[in-house]
Amino acid sequence: MSFNIAIDGPAGAGKSTIAKRAAKELSFIYVDTGAMYRSIALGLLRGGVDIEDTQALEKALEQIEVSIGYENHEQQVFLNQENVSGLIRTEEVSRMASAASAKPQVRAKLTELQRSLARREDVLMDGRDIGTMILPDAQLKIYLTASVHTRALRRYKELIERGEDCSLEDIEKDIEERDYRDMHRETAPLCQAEDAVLIDSSEMTIDEVVERIISLAKSRM
Ligand code: DC
Repeated sequence: MSFNIAIDGPAGAGKSTIAKRAAKELSFIYVDTGAMYRSIALGLLRGGVDIEDTQALEKALEQIEVSIGYENHEQQVFLNQENVSGLIRTEEVSRMASAASAKPQVRAKLTELQRSLARREDVLMDGRDIGTMILPDAQLKIYLTASVHTRALRRYKELIERGEDCSLEDIEKDIEERDYRDMHRETAPLCQAEDAVLIDSSEMTIDEVVERIISLAKSRM
């Protein structure tokens, strides 16, 4: 049987950096489910789909196929066979992914893909509903969070390093709004699974969080 690790938590808690590192050290496959939602969002943007129009959304989803592959151990995501990994990190795609991931039709499209990957391989999968909905039997569930201020500060530093003009206050507001949306949507809201281990990374280094996850995983193998 495969060993599955689910990591959920809000945006900016460091999930993907930490998940990637922990997966590598455990020789597990890292599955970034956010990238799958982002690819669907890109497909919807390209098609100019009004996602509030249910019929249009369902029709568009019939034409969208998402799959993943690996190159040099890095996950690549494909939208109808096109590698779109380099195109899904824009603000426009982030906004559409956030709105589209609230639609049950969009979530349904990815559920089986995510579950089938976890059945076949030892995976470390990160997202928002992995421990609660996708892999309720995962051997280890982590809920990784950090304070709004810490997450905003990390994002602020990233943007400043890239030479972008931004305000810490605006970023904090943005994070608060996104958290609220992710936690209060009707379909698969972000929440900690009852049996998940809570890790607050506000006062921890990346190394410390990775070590904690690895030691938890090893104790359950
Ligand atoms: O983690 P991320 O920022 O790449 O995720 C992109 C969007 O997809 C984000 O708005 C949350 C959503 N998402 C989700 O609803 N469920 C998941 N399992 C993963 C991401």
